[in-house]
Amino acid sequence: MKVLIVGSGGREHAIAWSVSKSPKVEKIYCAPGNAGIAELAECVEIGAMEFEKLADFAEENKIDLTIIGMDDPLVGGIVDVFEARGLKVFGPRKNAAILEGSKAFSKDLMKKYNIPTAAYENFDDPEKALAYLRTEAKFPIVLKADGLALGKGVLICADLSEAEAGVREIMEDKKFGSAGNTMVVEEFMTGREVSVLSFVDGKTIKTMTSAQDHKRALDGDKGLNTGGMGTFSPSPFYTEEVDEFCKKYIYQATVDAMAAEGRPFKGIIFFGLMLTQEGPKVLEYNARFGDPEAQVVLPRMKNDIVEVMEACVEGTLDKVDLQFEDNAAVCVVLASDGYPVHYEKEIPMYGFENFKDKEGYYCFHAGTKKKDGQIVTNGGRVVGITAKGENLKEARKNAYEATEWITFANKYMRHDIGKAIDEAE
Ligand code: AMP
Ligand code: GLY
Repeated sequence: MKVLIVGSGGREHAIAWSVSKSPKVEKIYCAPGNAGIAELAECVEIGAMEFEKLADFAEENKIDLTIIGMDDPLVGGIVDVFEARGLKVFGPRKNAAILEGSKAFSKDLMKKYNIPTAAYENFDDPEKALAYLRTEAKFPIVLKADGLALGKGVLICADLSEAEAGVREIMEDKKFGSAGNTMVVEEFMTGREVSVLSFVDGKTIKTMTSAQDHKRALDGDKGLNTGGMGTFSPSPFYTEEVDEFCKKYIYQATVDAMAAEGRPFKGIIFFGLMLTQEGPKVLEYNARFGDPEAQVVLPRMKNDIVEVMEACVEGTLDKVDLQFEDNAAVCVVLASDGYPVHYEKEIPMYGFENFKDKEGYYCFHAGTKKKDGQIVTNGGRVVGITAKGENLKEARKNAYEATEWITFANKYMRHDIGKAIDEAE
């Protein structure tokens, strides 16, 4: 088979690595890809939002399966464009990707189908939002821009004055663009966060092993929200009991709700869960693999990813026995100092050869490129260093050891990825 992957981050590198292990695959392309992906795939200079050009490429090169890694093209309807041209593609159509594309939609869906989530109100008029916040709200409270905002459209407001400033930012100043035309005001929840990714074929859902992300930039969960500074898998807090609850009230219920709405979901549903005192609740849905969740989940998956994805497209996922290794993995992101605000790019990087032939150690590229034959940084999140281990503690030790193998002048990382593992004991 020939496979095309759309995207350019660490998630797409992990997907490409997973695809490269499939005995069915003879050639991988990635658009646009990065310097690490280029070792496994032929990178093609087409942007992820250039749907017609991507479909032309898939047609001309007789691609057997296209995998969409990123949220923007999915929400924008790339799958519909491919399907209309008879091209096989893995990911939800536009009318299903709305599960991630509109938080107001997903909240209404959960309410309608009794899926546990935080209490909320949707607003498309800033005056009404302000009136609500002044009279009825309990603080802290959470404001969310409805649309895609690179994980930055969520504001946790301690008091009314912060909330008023938040409404201005989201709905009036349009800091997140049209994503802020509608805003969700949501109850603040406390608890542990867990990410559960799943394969879905429209009817059947198979969940993957759990993971936990670290979204804040600085140690101790301080600093600004980022795309994710590191992950570990499995989460020791995701117990059998939690899993049973979610199977009963959240996973299949979501898939059934989407089907009932005439929006059958095929692809990846990423459940962002909060384990609250009252039980697990949905924080958010994403319509794609998490980044960097994919970097710890996929290295532990035993199945041929291409077979599982084809089963999702064909509606035969019920026949797949999804299996994960009985071990653990930790991913520490090496970022450019200053991320997520200001940082330098094009800094030369060294040490990639240290990962060669090292079983269970991975360097997934997120923001890198080649310049005059040298790999240089090309983003805020630069690489994700993943290591496996027999258990979380060992995986964590291995991952931090391997973070030393890569050097670049403005390298920055968190030093407490997976620290919660100690608390779980
Ligand atoms: P989201 O993009 O919806 O996952 O939000 C980003 C982050 O904001 C989450 O990972 C949580 O840490 C936090 N967050 C979102 N919604 C809530 C909530 N209702 N209560 C507490 N924290 C939240
Ligand atoms: N790591 C969180 C996300 O991919 O949305």
